[in-house]
Amino acid sequence: MAASTRMDRRKTTLWLGIESSCDETGVALVAEQAGRTQIVGALLASQVYRHRPYGGVVPELAVREHSRNLPLLVARLFREASIALRELGGIAVTEGPGLASCLLVGNAYARAMGAALGLPVFGVNHLEGHLFSPFLEAEESISFPFLGLVVSGGHTILASVEGWNRYRILSSTSDDAAGEALDKIARLLGLPYPGGPEIEKLAARGNPKAFRFPRGFPEARDLRFSFSGVKTAVRYFLEKHAEERGDPAFLADVAASLQEAVLRTLCEKALWAAAGGGFRILAASGGVLANQRLRELLEAGCHHARLALHIAPSALCTDNAVMIASAAAWKSAAGLPASLGEDVDPGLPL
Ligand code: KG4
Ligand code: ZN
Repeated sequence: MAASTRMDRRKTTLWLGIESSCDETGVALVAEQAGRTQIVGALLASQVYRHRPYGGVVPELAVREHSRNLPLLVARLFREASIALRELGGIAVTEGPGLASCLLVGNAYARAMGAALGLPVFGVNHLEGHLFSPFLEAEESISFPFLGLVVSGGHTILASVEGWNRYRILSSTSDDAAGEALDKIARLLGLPYPGGPEIEKLAARGNPKAFRFPRGFPEARDLRFSFSGVKTAVRYFLEKHAEERGDPAFLADVAASLQEAVLRTLCEKALWAAAGGGFRILAASGGVLANQRLRELLEAGCHHARLALHIAPSALCTDNAVMIASAAAWKSAAGLPASLGEDVDPGLPL
């Protein structure tokens, strides 16, 4: 157990995290000691190839995959980490937002395991998992207040994070989430699901200044996000340039230009919100932060604005159970009691 080398095992609480809100079945073991966490083990069963032929997540298929994979992953996780069930101190599970049927698989499993082992079950808001994931593997511990930027397939949020459970939404999207828009635009470009990473690959070979695509609420000081306009603009643009659609260089320029429009918007509004709110820390997370270009833009912008930047580790930007286990571990260490709602909540707000 890697954690035992740096943590005193007697004072450590071991948390099992379970994530099943969408199309990734995630399990993780996280050790917590004095409010610091360490990853003991983590496994992920991605369903990308299962859903790819349909161009998006099919809930019915996702439920079956979660039900099949979850017990197998948990057994493998404990085996590979050489941890016995009796060493576990708590169970953390995503209770929303997400697909109701998918959330139910994780919740039923966590509830049953908690009852069988006599352990507390900590319901975690998926968005809260993302929000604090920039502090996973960070040298410094979490310090409040900070400005949180969560950019995923379902959400685009700027939030003032003043303490545990004290989150004030400063901005969210009025239509598509940024990741959702990238996924839809990728489809227009003939790229497979999920589209964000595919656009990033294609964009790497293109010129971000080749074309100018309109941005929703382009003024940085208007913190509202809107990404459906750029999607529509790309659709019309591709229709107008139908004869060039077979040209890989043209497609790379389109990908680079539209990606730049989306990512710069995110970056500029986050920096404006940070300056306006007097924040000294920006913590960025969610699947879209796996994008190297966005990471670079934020790093350059924060450096210039003398803003401390924390970004979730690349491998932990997209959905995972490490962030779920860690959020529960941190909150529990901060004295917050474990609680799990009677039912899952697909629309659970941050
Ligand atoms: O956080 P996440 O795994 O799931 C949700 O909570 O929604 O985010 C998934 C989103 C998808 O829209 C996906 O296209 C996007 O994150 N994404 C990316 C990249 N990797 C994943 N977007 C841009 N660049 C990437 N490298
Ligand atoms: Zn997510």
